[in-house]
This record gives sequence, structure tokens and C-alpha cells, in this order.
Amino acid sequence: MPYLGELDSVRALLARGTSILELGAGAGRLTRKLLEWGLSVTAVDNSAAMLAHVPRDAKPVLSDIEKLRLLEAFDTVLLASDLINHPSATSRKSIAATARRHVARGGQLLVERHDPDRLRNAQVGAVSCVNGLRSSIEAVRCCEDDIEMTVRYDMDGRTWRQSFRASLLSEAEIEGLLTEVGFRSFEWFGEKRMWVRAA
Ligand SMILES: C[S@@+](CC[C@H](N)C(=O)[O-])C[C@H]1O[C@@H](n2cnc3c(N)ncnc32)[C@H](O)[C@@H]1O
Repeated sequence: MPYLGELDSVRALLARGTSILELGAGAGRLTRKLLEWGLSVTAVDNSAAMLAHVPRDAKPVLSDIEKLRLLEAFDTVLLASDLINHPSATSRKSIAATARRHVARGGQLLVERHDPDRLRNAQVGAVSCVNGLRSSIEAVRCCEDDIEMTVRYDMDGRTWRQSFRASLLSEAEIEGLLTEVGFRSFEWFGEKRMWVRAA
């Protein structure tokens, strides 16, 4: 997928020359932007196939986020792509604890979450067309505090589908989870407050 501007609202917090641990880096879509902005990136993913596409200037680490124990700490830990909305509360806590273990003294955690209103009101049909990538919802189902969804992506005559389950989390619930693992001082960013910075 092309870069769709996801990091733009937190870009001012990402200083050139600083270190960043990117959790759930995938094929390096955001990694490329971070490198372009002059950060030193360690990219973590549990899929070797995805990590194989991460640019060589980043340091790849094949691991589950929950089990990650690196010997270094980072100026920034980045948890993008709504991984904080994991449907298991136990996994959410392990992921948050990993972030805490790897933030350097005086460093920051940046978390991107799902827009809970958008998830709650999601309906089958077209979603957007940005930079040649058309996305649409093929199926959506609400189950208590979770949403199950299949999203279809079309670009250049090719089609991909991604099915996922995500927990609807309020700002207070996310701050509560991050507080439990040792973060404090929360600041929300972006027009729809999709990003939180925790110190
Ligand atoms: C939706 S993709 C997003 C990738 C990238 N951040 C982007 O924006 O293009 C999520 C990535 O997180 C990885 N992932 C999901 N859960 C994980 C976990 N528990 N530990 C490590 N990687 C995980 C998946 O393999 C996938 O590559």
C-alpha cells in the first residue's frame, strides 16, 4: 500500500537523528517515511515475509511484539496501525508492556488507534480512494465491544482482502492501559485524535 499520511499528525514529534522502535512494521510502508525523515529505525514484525520488504537501512527484528526483549531502549516507540485495538485484553497489556520496556528515559510512545465512532458506524460499501488505492468494506459485524470486518483493497487491477477483529477502545481505556504499564502524561494528536503520545 502507498503511504496515506498516517504519520503526518505526529511528524513534529519525530526528530531527525533520533532512534525509533517500530512495532508491527509490516513491509516497511511507514519505515520508509521514518528513514526519509532521518530517524534510525528498528523494525519489528512476526512475519518474515513482511520483514523481507523492509528497507535495508532499517534494522529488522523478527519477533512477536509481546515477547520482544531487546537490550536497547529507544527515543520513540511507535505502535501504529491500530495494533493497540487487539481483541484480547491480555495481548493489549503485553504489547503495551513491551512498549514500556523499550522507551528510553525521557523518551516517548506514540500509539495510533482506531477511530471508535468510525468502527461503530462502519457499513458495507466504498470507503475511500487515495493515491490509486480503492478500499471498501465487504463485511462488518458488531460483537459486544468488538468489531469484525473484512476490508477489500483494489489497486492497479489487483485485489487484496484483510479480515480483522478489533476492540472499540475509548481514550480513557487507552490511557488506563498505558498507565497500568507505567506511562503517564498523555497528549492526543490529529483532527480525530487518532494518536496519543505517552511519556
Ligand atoms: C496492518 S499491518 C501494518 C503494517 C505497517 N505498520 C503499515 O502501516 O504498513 C500490521 C503488521 O503487524 C504485524 N503484527 C501483528 N501482530 C503482531 C504481533 N503480535 N507481533 C509482531 N507483529 C505483529 C503483522 O505481521 C503486520 O505486518
